[in-house]
Amino acid sequence: MDGKLVRLRAYEKSDLDAVMKWVNDEEVTDLLGGEMLAYPVSSIAEAKFIEAYASPSDKQKNFAIETLAERRYIGAISFNVIDWQSRHAGIGIVIGDKSLWGKGYGTDAMRIMMRLAFDKMNLHRLYLDVHDYNTRAIASYEKCGFRREAVLREHHFGRGKYCDTIVMGILESEYRALA
Ligand SMILES: CC(C)(COP(=O)(O)OP(=O)(O)OC[C@H]1O[C@@H](n2cnc3c(N)ncnc32)[C@H](O)[C@@H]1OP(=O)(O)O)[C@@H](O)C(=O)NCCC(=O)NCCS
Repeated sequence: MDGKLVRLRAYEKSDLDAVMKWVNDEEVTDLLGGEMLAYPVSSIAEAKFIEAYASPSDKQKNFAIETLAERRYIGAISFNVIDWQSRHAGIGIVIGDKSLWGKGYGTDAMRIMMRLAFDKMNLHRLYLDVHDYNTRAIASYEKCGFRREAVLREHHFGRGKYCDTIVMGILESEYRALA
């Protein structure tokens, strides 16, 4: 699935080396939710994770992000909790290569996911949550048309203190209005 700068494709075993370059980088993992990457990750554990992550499921659809120009792996994006009855899905995204932040790759990947969700999977709502200090991510999601829907106060603990978590979402009707 191609955008203007990136392509989303299935994960492959051969992505392991590229993933290991960012998965233990605290500057990257501090910005992600949950505890999963709070501790050092071995290549053994990561290989198992990739195997599960790459396997199709009704509840999750996970993709590698690669540059269109060089076909180089740069990160991951997923529908991580799909609810087919209410037709909504949560999204997670990471551009693991820090040198590529702020160059439009994440926004492009998110727009491909929106196209996939609303034009192909027939979903009704997409949502995600983000630490309040992750201003780059919030700017990217707002550019895509996501709105701030809720604040979960002091929801996340990291960097020695609590921060608020912002829930952002976009409805299918809002996506259609963007076009
Ligand atoms: C969040 C992420 C996916 C965004 O992708 P990206 O390719 O870096 O973002 P983009 O370049 O598409 O868009 C970022 C926007 O924020 C702006 N921006 C850049 N740095 C910023 C900062 N420190 N504060 C506020 N805005 C910033 C950019 O200028 C750009 O807007 P513009 O195109 O109008 O100029 C990526 O930065 C990333 O993976 N970060 C680490 C992991 C992470 O935070 N994941 C999300 C967890 S919710």
